[in-house]
Amino acid sequence: MEKIIVEGGHRLQGTVTISGAKNAALPILVSALLAEGWSVYQNVPDLRDIRTIKSLLTDLGVQVNTQGSTVKVNAGTLRSHEAPYDLVKTMRASVLVLGPLLARLGRARVSLPGGCAIGARPINLHLKGLEQMGAHISLEHGYIDAEVPSLKGADIYLDTVTVTGTENLMMAAAMADGVTILRNAAREPEVVALATALNQMGAQITGAGTPVVTINGVDSLKPTSVTIIPDRIEAGTFMIAAGVTHGNIKIIGAQPGHLAAVIHKVRQAGITVEQEPDGLRVVCEQTLSSVDVKTLPYPGFPTDMQAQFMVLMCLAPGLSVISETIFENRFIHVSELQRMGVDIKVSGHTAVVQGGRPMTGAPVMATDLRASASLILAALAAEGTTEISRVYHIDRGYEAIEKKLAQLGARLWRTGGSASPK
Ligand code: EPZ
Repeated sequence: MEKIIVEGGHRLQGTVTISGAKNAALPILVSALLAEGWSVYQNVPDLRDIRTIKSLLTDLGVQVNTQGSTVKVNAGTLRSHEAPYDLVKTMRASVLVLGPLLARLGRARVSLPGGCAIGARPINLHLKGLEQMGAHISLEHGYIDAEVPSLKGADIYLDTVTVTGTENLMMAAAMADGVTILRNAAREPEVVALATALNQMGAQITGAGTPVVTINGVDSLKPTSVTIIPDRIEAGTFMIAAGVTHGNIKIIGAQPGHLAAVIHKVRQAGITVEQEPDGLRVVCEQTLSSVDVKTLPYPGFPTDMQAQFMVLMCLAPGLSVISETIFENRFIHVSELQRMGVDIKVSGHTAVVQGGRPMTGAPVMATDLRASASLILAALAAEGTTEISRVYHIDRGYEAIEKKLAQLGARLWRTGGSASPK
C-alpha cells in the first residue's frame, strides 16, 4: 500500500498555485447531462474523484474528452439512466446525477451512496425535494429507482442546509415545468459556480449564494464553456501549512472572498494574511495563539477545514475548543494525531486542544480526505519522520500535493513510486 513519508521541521516558503475546486467541478461536470452538444470545462483538477465522475458519465453513454486540465463533455449520446454501485460507493457525490437524469430522461436508477467515515451522510432531502417535484421514488436492493413523466416546479424547504442537495435540486428544477423555490439553500461558492454555469446554459436561476434560490424552469439548455473556480479548501490548507512551519507562502489563486471565516480565524491565531493582486501572502513569524472554532454552513467556518485548523491549534500554547456541527463523526483524525504526542480530548461534537506541546513523527493512517491533509500538516511540523498510510484518501481531493509542498521546501516522498525525497 502506498505511503507518504514526511521529514518534519522544514520551514515552507515560496509560491504555490491553487488548482480548480473539486466540489465545483463535480456538479458542473454533471450539469453537462442537461444539454446536447459539447460543453468545455477548463481548470479542472486532476483528482481521483474527478476521474470517478468522468467514468460515471462515460458509463451513461456521455462522450468525455480530457486534454490536460480541460475536459469536454457531450451528453448528446446519453443512453443509460443507471449509476452503478461500484462507482457510487467510491464517491458519494455521484448522487448528483439523480436530478439531471430525471430532467433529461424522466428516469434514474442510482445506488444509495451509503455512509462514509465522517458520518451517515443521508440523502433524504435530495429525495424529498424530487418527490415534491413529482418524482416517484422507491428504494430497493440498495438502489434509488426514480421516475417522473415531467418534473414540476415546487416550493421546497430544506430542513438541513445541504450542499449537494441544493445542487441536485437546482439541476432538476432547471428544466421543470414552472418555478421552483429552494428555501434554506446552501450558499457555498461552489453552489454559486454551478448556478452561474447553468445560467450560461440558458437556465433562469436567481438568489444563488443566498438562503432562497428561485429557478424558473425552461424548455431546454445548451452546452457552455466554464472555467472552474479555485479550490478554497486547498487554499486554506496551504494557509495552515504556512502557520505550522512558521513559513512565508504566496498562494496564487486564493480567493479571499471565499475564505473570509478561515482568514479571520488564522489571523486571530497570529498569522499574517495579506491580499495581493493574484492571491494571498501568508506569513507566520510569531508564537501562535489558541483560538476557538465552530464549523457552520457557508459563510461560516468550513467543516472541510476543521481537521487542518486543529493541527494549527496543537501548536498554539493554551486551550482551544473546536466544535463540529456539520458531521457526526468528523474527529477521526484525533486518534492519529494523538500518536504524534498532541493533547486533544473529544467529547461528542467538541474537541478541546491543549496546544503548545512538541509534536513527534510517527506512523499514522489517513481515514478520510481532510483528515489525511491534517496528518500531512502535522508531519510538516513534527520533529522527526512521519509515515502516512492509506494516502489514496488524499489523492481524492488534493492535486499533486507532494510536488506543491516540495516546491515550498518540504521534504516528503511517496513509497512504491520514487523512493527518494522530492
Ligand atoms: C458537501 O458534501 C461536500 N462535498 C463536502 O466536502 C462538505 O464537507 C459538505 O458539503 C459540507 O460542506 C461535495 O460538495 C462533493 P451536505 P454533502 O449535504 O453535500 C446532512 C470534501 O472533503 N444531510 O451539505 O454531502 C448531512 O448528514 C467533502 O470535499 C441530511 O441530513 O454534505 C450533514 O450532516 C467531504 N440529509 C449535513 O446535512 C440530506 O439529504 C451537511 O451535508 C443531505 C444532507
